[in-house]
Amino acid sequence: MTKKILALPGDGIGKEVMASTLNVLHYLIESHDLDFLITEMNVGGAAYDVEGSPIPNSVLEEAKKSDAVLFGAVGGEKWDNLEWDLRPENALLTLRKELNLFANLRPAFLFNELSNASPIKKEIINNLDILIVRELTGGVYFGEPRGMNNDAEPNYAFNTMIYNEDEIRRIAKVAFEAAQKRNRRLCSVDKANVLEVSKFWRSIVTEMSDDYPDVELSHQLADNTAMQLVLDPNQFDVIVSSNLFGDILSDIAGTLTGSIGMLPSASLDSSFRGMYEPCHGSAPDIAGQDIANPLAMISSLSMALKFSLKEENLSKKLDESIKTYIKNGYRTKDISAGKAHIKTSEVSDIIIDILKNE
Ligand code: IPM
Ligand code: MG
Repeated sequence: MTKKILALPGDGIGKEVMASTLNVLHYLIESHDLDFLITEMNVGGAAYDVEGSPIPNSVLEEAKKSDAVLFGAVGGEKWDNLEWDLRPENALLTLRKELNLFANLRPAFLFNELSNASPIKKEIINNLDILIVRELTGGVYFGEPRGMNNDAEPNYAFNTMIYNEDEIRRIAKVAFEAAQKRNRRLCSVDKANVLEVSKFWRSIVTEMSDDYPDVELSHQLADNTAMQLVLDPNQFDVIVSSNLFGDILSDIAGTLTGSIGMLPSASLDSSFRGMYEPCHGSAPDIAGQDIANPLAMISSLSMALKFSLKEENLSKKLDESIKTYIKNGYRTKDISAGKAHIKTSEVSDIIIDILKNE
């Protein structure tokens, strides 16, 4: 059956990294005779400029019909002063919620060849390979009630951090199962020393661990995890956390590797349909200069092949080609340590060449 892929390049370097990724995807489709149908649409600021909404209904409808959504990046100064509903970032949150993408997988791994780019000492960071499983459709991001009161004295604003049992169970299940396929260690992160919602989270995850005797479960407080990620990141295998803590911890984990331009992510629903995006943002400061690193987006395509498009072997091949590319010394500006570098637009041809020869 035809698999539908929606490509949403978005803003800033999103457009450049998506162009490279689609080159690779087209090559894979032709060389492996894949029954994929690609549709490309605007999202974020690019959609707002044309249609007055960062996530027009037509895009949302197309996304709902797709097996995988490839999402570049959104945002930029030009749209910073718009009201929240019209801001490019709203497209992301709307897609996550409307598509029920509750499980956000954010791997942070180091290519040892690039350990010089890391701000952390080599002996601490070498062989880093962590998976952060972030809850993505609940918690304080979406909790009700929420709001602002400008008629009170003093004025105030508020949000609600709330999780029900089912929401905790379904994300913890994804995390336990991911740990089973990796090094069988799971660290659940919360603020159970302060928050009721965290105490509840911890009790549910602890109760579930009986069903996963092969996974070693630990608990950490989020502030400690922030510190531990920097001091001793290799203690972690899989981390599971709520929406807000996962947001913060995944930025720390991503930064450890020295190039956030290398890291992919997947956001999945319960039947493994998903949205795939690089961890970096739209990076307006370097947009249009042909210097962005498209590997995070290409790696996100690999995650899409694995989870939503049921082409696990191709996903492995693509991962291997990225490893070979790094081993052979190809560097975009972000990882070139000030030395000569290649352009964004050159990367896909190199990856395709490697794929041809593998
Ligand atoms: C992320 C981003 C988003 C988030 C923003 C852009 C809404 O920081 O995907 O981590 O907070 O989830
Ligand atoms: Mg974030």
